[in-house]
Amino acid sequence: NNGSVIGGKSFTAVAINCASKAGEWIQTKLGNHASLDIKYSSHDLVTEVDKGSERLIRNLIMTHFPHHSFLGEEGVKPGPEASTKALEDVREAEYLWIVDPIDGTTNFVHGFPFFCVSIALAHNGEVIVGVVYDPMKDELFVAEKGKGAYVHGKRMQVSKEETLRGSLVATGLPADHQYALPLNLRGIGAIAPQVRNLRIAGSAALHMAYVAAGRLSGFWEIGLNSWDLAAGALLIQESGGVVGDTLGNPYHLGVRNVVASNGIIQQELIAALAHAEANQ
Ligand code: IPD
Ligand code: CA
Ligand code: CA
Ligand code: CA
Repeated sequence: NNGSVIGGKSFTAVAINCASKAGEWIQTKLGNHASLDIKYSSHDLVTEVDKGSERLIRNLIMTHFPHHSFLGEEGVKPGPEASTKALEDVREAEYLWIVDPIDGTTNFVHGFPFFCVSIALAHNGEVIVGVVYDPMKDELFVAEKGKGAYVHGKRMQVSKEETLRGSLVATGLPADHQYALPLNLRGIGAIAPQVRNLRIAGSAALHMAYVAAGRLSGFWEIGLNSWDLAAGALLIQESGGVVGDTLGNPYHLGVRNVVASNGIIQQELIAALAHAEANQ
């Protein structure tokens, strides 16, 4: 395998350890998060728990792999320009950890039990480990490049659904109300009437994990960041699904407008979004 052990510690073991430690700690803070900050608008929140979770993960990773690079959401200024720049700065790193310390902060703040910790490791720009942990359900989703993806230690497979008509599909309502939200609303207008039903549960990474597990047949959203997608993308690919963007390009770390599915409905999803001009 691709040198995935340094000093006796496997990358995947460290990723799992970080995700479960952070997830357990986050859960103890549910309902009593100390302070709430608004990042861009009342739609974009951050708490001390997001920052604490990122600190915990970063410290653990740096203890094991001090020469690796690290990109975490809470270390980056809000907004697409800052996050593009932050990714460009580290994208060429040999080993890059990409971390969303809580994906689904709004849910966490409201006590709606659908959020996760998302941790990915990229090697020369390619994701080789992806871990998503849902502390509320104690569900750990793990993927290693070329070795499959697992939940509860059981190999995952994407759904076999062949049509949009029979598919349960998810999307998100982005915090960016200027650009991303209007586009996604057009997409929703186009896709909702064509699918069995639509879910908007508030965590992109967990939605991606659910596509990998076959619980959803597809997911799309406009305006996401590398830390929302990196771990989930590998989970889906290693479960036999397809991840790309709204224009049909394959997944890479810079993808923001994601379309992910079991592969079979991928073109139908992309075509529906294109028809609604919800992909610019
Ligand atoms: C958000 C969640 C949400 C999605 C937003 C993301 P955060 O991440 O994934 O489902 O709709 O676009 O920003 O801020 O909770 O980590
Ligand atoms: Ca956030
Ligand atoms: Ca996120
Ligand atoms: Ca987050």
